[in-house]
Amino acid sequence: MNGPSRTITVGPLYLADAEDCARLERLLFAEDDPWSARAFRDALCSGHHYLAARDGARLVGYGGLAVVAGPPDPEAEIHTIGVHPDYRRLGVGRRLLAALLDHADALRATVFLEVRTDNEAAFGLYRSTGFEPLGVRRNYYQPSGADAFTMRRPARPA
Ligand SMILES: CC(C)(COP(=O)(O)OP(=O)(O)OC[C@H]1O[C@@H](n2cnc3c(N)ncnc32)[C@H](O)[C@@H]1OP(=O)(O)O)[C@@H](O)C(=O)NCCC(=O)NCCS
Repeated sequence: MNGPSRTITVGPLYLADAEDCARLERLLFAEDDPWSARAFRDALCSGHHYLAARDGARLVGYGGLAVVAGPPDPEAEIHTIGVHPDYRRLGVGRRLLAALLDHADALRATVFLEVRTDNEAAFGLYRSTGFEPLGVRRNYYQPSGADAFTMRRPARPA
């Protein structure tokens, strides 16, 4: 496999990416019921906001956000974010998350997410983008039984 190139783009995720997403999911979330290609297709067909990070034609990361409530108190949820291990610590996860949050901010939405309590990398990323832990959900992830922090990022003012 070739190493990372210098130019990684962030843009739309397409139905044609679903198999690659599922392959990456199995690598990233082997312990916790990784999403299937069908789950990605369903999310895209539901109109959720999903983005891809690509190195040339290669999918190296993805992220998804769903708007779950509209005005007067809009809410969104981060569904997922993942970066291929060969492309970590290059700012790809931060770029994906920033683009998802831009979408939420345009709607003035409060954003929620869950993250494993032992996932220091993701927790650090979320804390640095304005998320605060709200509480712990025990045995949230299956089949691992791992606990999750619920985190919230307040809506950005107009
Ligand atoms: C979490 C994840 C998406 C971060 O992607 P990334 O592209 O490596 O992250 P970035 O390079 O953009 O780093 C952004 C911030 O995340 C945090 N971070 C990333 N990797 C970290 C690590 N190994 N240890 C501690 N903090 C880390 C840091 O706060 C970092 O900011 P900094 O570089 O200014 O210190 C990636 O580690 C991943 O795909 N993990 C597996 C899937 C996963 O757990 N997804 C989250 C599910 S809730």
